[in-house]
Amino acid sequence: MLHQTTIGTDITEAARFLNAGDVVGIPTETVYGLAGNALNPDAVLRIFTVKDRPHFDPLIVHTHSVTEIEKYVLDIPDMARQLMQRFMPGPLTLLLRKKDIIPDLVTSGLDTVAIRIPNHPLTLELLKQLSFPLAAPSANPFGYISPTTAQHVYDQLNGKIPYVLNGGATHVGVESTIVGFEDGQAIVYRVGGLAVEDIESITGTVKYNVNESSNPQVPGMLKSHYAPQKQLIFADEALLPTKQNVAVIAFDKYISGFDEKQQVLLSPQGDLNEAAKNLFAVMRQLDNSDAVMIFAIRFPDTGLGRAINDRLKRAGA
Ligand code: TXA
Ligand code: MG
Repeated sequence: MLHQTTIGTDITEAARFLNAGDVVGIPTETVYGLAGNALNPDAVLRIFTVKDRPHFDPLIVHTHSVTEIEKYVLDIPDMARQLMQRFMPGPLTLLLRKKDIIPDLVTSGLDTVAIRIPNHPLTLELLKQLSFPLAAPSANPFGYISPTTAQHVYDQLNGKIPYVLNGGATHVGVESTIVGFEDGQAIVYRVGGLAVEDIESITGTVKYNVNESSNPQVPGMLKSHYAPQKQLIFADEALLPTKQNVAVIAFDKYISGFDEKQQVLLSPQGDLNEAAKNLFAVMRQLDNSDAVMIFAIRFPDTGLGRAINDRLKRAGA
């Protein structure tokens, strides 16, 4: 099944492909997704094939309302409901006990389903027009940097999918924060676009199950992930060896020992949200530049700085 990929803003066209069981690129506020009918195992299989993704890596299900979520999960703990009220739509994914209607292929056999309401007007409208939710991983080949524009999706998946719905550059820029629940306790499985501080304002102190080695249950947490083709070295500023022909990803100030020309500041104003928004596009740009290697400095470990550090660490692993 080979298509020339079209980029466009036509929701009806995207819905037509999805209704036919095909997969399309969709915008969200975090990163672009590779979406298919979550209730149709053939469409879900197609997602795994296009992405070259191992079947042990479960997918996130996208819907447009809390009422919809209730159709797919057995129960919603109080804490989860409070998070939903406060942060959905938004960059938050909850792990909830699934109903049988969600195919095992979506959850890789786990009894929880990862579910979220993406905060993007085009995709919310698309979801309202469909009679099913969308399973969607990030729309990149497995292990590579996630796409934050329709063009990124096209560059990597042209010929493999019929359509990319173009919703512009994503506003948040890193994937959703994933939260599960155990005995009334919130557990963070992936740091992401919703700051842990915001979650803790509702849940109290969270626990982490953010693995850094190979963990078949949570492969977004694979030690090496989100990786450019070039070698990336992630370290505290003082530990980076001075070198020519390398590119440096820094936060708000140029670091010493390198030419300013070699460096990209993710946010000259020192805004971690802006830095997160720019991160993946800059990694791509440097991966396609003349630099032989990419250095990245450690960001402040607060707010979205945690997600930035997490992605850079995995990109460098
Ligand atoms: O922002 C996002 O979440 C984006 C956009 C497209 O929505 N999606 C995304 O999907 O990042 P993906 O497939 O690249 O990452 C999903 C992560 C994986 O690490 C997967 O292991 C984890 O979610 N996951 C899914 N279901 C799970 C479950 N039941 N238990 C634990 N982890 C789960
Ligand atoms: Mg991904």
